[in-house]
Amino acid sequence: MAKPKIIIAIDGYSSCGKSTVAKELAALLGYNYIDSGAMYRAITLYFLRNDIDYKNDAEVINALKDIHLSFAFNEVSGKSEILLNDENVEHYIRDMIVAEKVSEVAAIKEVRSFATAQQQKLGSERGIVMDGRDIGTTVFPDAELKIFMTASPEVRVKRRFQELYAGNPNITLEEVKHNLELRDYIDSNREESPLRQAKDAVVLDNSHLTREEQLAKVMGWVEERAVAKAL
Ligand code: DC
Repeated sequence: MAKPKIIIAIDGYSSCGKSTVAKELAALLGYNYIDSGAMYRAITLYFLRNDIDYKNDAEVINALKDIHLSFAFNEVSGKSEILLNDENVEHYIRDMIVAEKVSEVAAIKEVRSFATAQQQKLGSERGIVMDGRDIGTTVFPDAELKIFMTASPEVRVKRRFQELYAGNPNITLEEVKHNLELRDYIDSNREESPLRQAKDAVVLDNSHLTREEQLAKVMGWVEERAVAKAL
């Protein structure tokens, strides 16, 4: 009998390695992987490109009407990349200019309802791995497996620095550290769906785990939940 499809929600701070494990899990299970942060980043990119004053509610509401987000699977990167009004913006949304504003944009109520509704639609048939900040608490409170990822601040800064350095050799560790701390603070202290560990989430601290160890651990949890659902 085919295993029942479940929803896997992965939440945690920036640069904890959520997308790595999410991508590997989705590939192993034949599930779709959705990076919910990419949606907030694409909305931020749209606001920046179109000079939208995101402190002005009316402007935000109007702008959201012109935003269409979708995903297209890229065989090479092995992930679904985000399209903003049919343009693949995966590369642009990783820019520091977007990173500096995205937490403020993601704190806006209208932006969150807009993104949450689309995320819920994407998971309506289950068989999905989604990572973000509020996936297990707000988007899919009924997810069969909720993982809350953590890693030490030093490990996170180093990982993020390595990611950004390739595209911007002028970037400093200090800049990266400051941006991460600021985003952690805003993400955890905003009024709308702040970053929280869901009560029924399992914690994965990957500061000292290899990718293989991490995947084995998570696959163990997946098996448990899929078996429990089949009973
Ligand atoms: O995962 P990321 O760094 O790409 O996320 C970008 C920003 O979007 C981050 O500052 C927090 C926000 N975010 C959110 O508020 N809720 C989510 N489900 C995913 C991301």
